[in-house]
Amino acid sequence: MEENDKIFLQTLNGQVTEKVPFWFMRQAGRYLPEYKELRAKAGGFLDMAYNPETACEITMQPIRRFSMDAGIIFSDILVVPHAMGQHLEFAAGEGPKLDPVRSVTDIGKLKPGITGEIFSKVYEAIERTRQAMQSEGFGQTALIGFAGAPWTVACYMVEGGGSKDFETVRSWAYRGPEEFQQLIDILVEVTAEYLCGQIKAGAEAVQIFDSWAGVLEANQFHRWVIAPTKRLVEKVRMEHPDVPIIGFPRGAGVLYRDYVRDTGVSAVSTDHMLPVQWIGNALQPLVPVQGNLDPVALLAGGDTLKLSAEKILNELGSAPFVFNLGHGVIKDTPVEHVEELVTLIREFER
Ligand code: CP3
Repeated sequence: MEENDKIFLQTLNGQVTEKVPFWFMRQAGRYLPEYKELRAKAGGFLDMAYNPETACEITMQPIRRFSMDAGIIFSDILVVPHAMGQHLEFAAGEGPKLDPVRSVTDIGKLKPGITGEIFSKVYEAIERTRQAMQSEGFGQTALIGFAGAPWTVACYMVEGGGSKDFETVRSWAYRGPEEFQQLIDILVEVTAEYLCGQIKAGAEAVQIFDSWAGVLEANQFHRWVIAPTKRLVEKVRMEHPDVPIIGFPRGAGVLYRDYVRDTGVSAVSTDHMLPVQWIGNALQPLVPVQGNLDPVALLAGGDTLKLSAEKILNELGSAPFVFNLGHGVIKDTPVEHVEELVTLIREFER
């Protein structure tokens, strides 16, 4: 199968393919029994992510079951601060914990020069996964690389983990914009290098996850989400002009439109808070769109799932569109619900 026969890549290039391509954020993970089995044997989440063989295996798991049109390499957005020497751990069932960066002195302790040791593990996982896709007969499946956007990664770095409303990082951005800009600038540089490295290793498209784009006021959104993402897109595109870049400014609401216009992303991933019709009117004329089934509809199953998925396909399916969720698969999601959804997408006639 030729590269350009992959319907996911054709769609990102603006074509309307016969079938609607699909993949799901967090398609590899705890809703799959085979993942839980590996997870129980492995030392921890980071041990799995940094072992190229395991990362490849986990990336392949959902593809073997559901033949998605794209797989996303099994890794995490917090690999970037970790690779710069920030302490990171994933305590079981608790989410990430980092030693917070809260001053210029803390920023000065980051080591953007030592990232290669960790990044190379991810690159190797990507190389292996491309080979596995070929040798296991999934030549029509594309491989996506990814990174967190500078803003979202900074959120975790400054807060030291997840947060209800990210007050610490948001107030630093207001009080000391020149200081905070230094952190963002480092992240733009390192993330550009990291995404380019993933593409060289075999990633055929990349996604930029800005999971906390939605917590910012509009002017702050322009400064900390749009501006750094624009620079990141320019840097990656300078080296790899033909590789599609998908942006995901989760929770951005009406600012999604500014984001698409001003960052120059090739395609946009939409969350489930956005009305499907608005996506069709405001975003799809600008770029190919990905999204936006509520992961809770997938968890719930039944008529809710069927009706929501059909509405999305009917509204967005006649222009370039990749079916996805509005956020990641929830861990208690029954595998049968995912099976039902896949059948529904595959049977849809454009
Ligand atoms: O299949 C895939 O989507 C690929 C792998 C992937 C993971 N994380 C694996 C993971 C991707 C693309 C991510 C991105 C990521 N990581 C984001 C952006 C997307 C989003 O969800 O908004 C964010 C914010 C993170 C940071 C992160 N990683 C958190 C907050 C957590 C804990 C919450 C949780 O779900 O456990 C993680 C851990 C994590 N990353 C897991 C997985 C499969 C769970 C680890 C486990 O098995 O215990």
